[in-house]
Amino acid sequence: MTAEACFVPGEPWLDDRGVHINAHGGGVLFHGGAYYWFGEHKISGKAGNVAHVGVHCYSSTDLTSWRDEGIALAVSDDSESDIVRECVLERPKVIYNALTETFVMWFHLELKGQGYAAARSGVAVSSSPTGPYAFCDSFRPNAGHWPLNATEEQKAPLEDPPYLRNRSVSGGPNAATPANGFFRRDHLGGQMARDMTLFVDDDGTGYHIYSSEENSTLHISELTPDFQRPSGRYVRVFEKRWMEAAAICKRQGRYYLLASGCTGWAPNEARSAVADSIWGPWEELGNPCVGINPMNGLGQEKTFGGQSTSILPVEGLRDAYIAMFDIWCPEDAIDGRYVWLPIVFSEEGMKISWRDRWDLAGFGT
Ligand code: DGJ
Repeated sequence: MTAEACFVPGEPWLDDRGVHINAHGGGVLFHGGAYYWFGEHKISGKAGNVAHVGVHCYSSTDLTSWRDEGIALAVSDDSESDIVRECVLERPKVIYNALTETFVMWFHLELKGQGYAAARSGVAVSSSPTGPYAFCDSFRPNAGHWPLNATEEQKAPLEDPPYLRNRSVSGGPNAATPANGFFRRDHLGGQMARDMTLFVDDDGTGYHIYSSEENSTLHISELTPDFQRPSGRYVRVFEKRWMEAAAICKRQGRYYLLASGCTGWAPNEARSAVADSIWGPWEELGNPCVGINPMNGLGQEKTFGGQSTSILPVEGLRDAYIAMFDIWCPEDAIDGRYVWLPIVFSEEGMKISWRDRWDLAGFGT
């Protein structure tokens, strides 16, 4: 993709060294006139489904040609560290905190050897966008805080209710999932947090949006002013809709969400939603994707073979937002591909049409 300054979704995307970009499940920060793309560095084979290296960073000024900036956050060799090599470190995102002049990275962390049971959030900081980032802490967010939209009746911890005992429904929709159960179970220890994104609003408030409650329900959680912890103010949204891969943007005063269903590494149908306040109510708008990816024959019912990771507002262009998706390759993780497509907004919501090849001049066409 480098030579012709256009996006070619699904093809290998070469960096300035001619190597396929290694930044999966990522997000892009714009800062000081440049874009920084952060994502999971994966290695070859199935082994690449856990973290052997860390978070990779690339920089660009045109969004198509990317310079390799190296590893921004490295996994640790210390077996006592939460981010020891072979942990699961997914979907890293970075935001800039103007108050502390610090770059703050959040990611989904699973402790080594524990599958997806830990469901934690990790935080790391740096004084430079490209890093190195210093790991701060990992935790389940919002311990001891009730959701802002919990009813008075719900505000009672369920310490070990029989119907939740030993119950894990992770991995996808499960009719047995109790409504209003898991967040009460997790009230004291903190809420489960897996797939995640970050969002900074116009007023400088930061938010962490994560799949919680065994993946059944999304939480939208305000950050502290330094962006390094949850403030304790959060809402539960899309209850029992099993949304993963949430991505958020704000356009003309409204908040738009792009997400997926919950089917492991396999693609499913994308979802979209809109709200006038980030706290909701959110209105689901359906699958925004249209068309077919000729490389794998997968259409909108499988999100072209991909899963959302971020929405990227393009600086200096009016109404220009890019939907970023990953085509996962769990058999050879390093070969995961990127699908970046323009979002077209209308009264009906967002529309994301397949393009074999496009450039920024194509917005609005
Ligand atoms: C889907 C998630 O979106 C990915 O980030 C990853 O956690 C896989 N599930 C693991 O199966």
